[in-house]
Amino acid sequence: TTIRKFRQTLLAWYDREGRDLPWRRDHDPYHVWVSEVMLQQTQVNTVIPYYERFMATFPTVTDLAQADEATLLKAWQGLGYYSRARNLQRAAQQIVTDYRGVWPQTAAALAELVGIGPYTSCAIASIAFGQAVPAVDGNAFRVFSRLLLIDADIAKPKTRQLFEEIIQPIVDPDRPGAFNQAIMDLGSSYMTPKNSDPAHSPVKDFDASYQLGKVEDYPVKTKV
Ligand code: ADE
Repeated sequence: TTIRKFRQTLLAWYDREGRDLPWRRDHDPYHVWVSEVMLQQTQVNTVIPYYERFMATFPTVTDLAQADEATLLKAWQGLGYYSRARNLQRAAQQIVTDYRGVWPQTAAALAELVGIGPYTSCAIASIAFGQAVPAVDGNAFRVFSRLLLIDADIAKPKTRQLFEEIIQPIVDPDRPGAFNQAIMDLGSSYMTPKNSDPAHSPVKDFDASYQLGKVEDYPVKTKV
């Protein structure tokens, strides 16, 4: 079927050419979570040295939970949005105290933690725990709107749920974390916002907007 071929093609490309990033060396939920929070506001290349230093300073979720404020804010300095660092520590304290250090393993349960929204909960659940859920960020909006000609307005809050419902059956049930991260890599290589290169994309045969010459029309986003 088309979905099976799509998954196969995408994951074969990801295995060959997916980015080698420090938070992809294992599937530790703490590593996945910290990287995802940093990546919400900052580009990959900028995040890498911050991530490495953060993990050297706070090697475990317990270290983060117990950190003093000055050390925490110093580790975050330059990333901006200090509320994210504070939420990160509060969620670390929830995990240590409320969960006795045992991570909740589903997107729904992860979303109960401070500062963990719908995207981050699905990213952690899929990458760290193998739950087959789509992680819908800007990359997923762009990639799937182009592949499938989805013209819902991504500026509208309700559109996320529509994308989640459309992508859910496409996510590879055996490798959901790799699937989601492959979409992120497509979204930052062949299927970028500007100067995209859909003609050389590994999934060009599945890319309806490319075949119709309408890549620039997607995603649909109203101003403000
Ligand atoms: N952007 C957000 N999450 C990411 C990840 N896990 N890898 C690469 N880029 C990302």
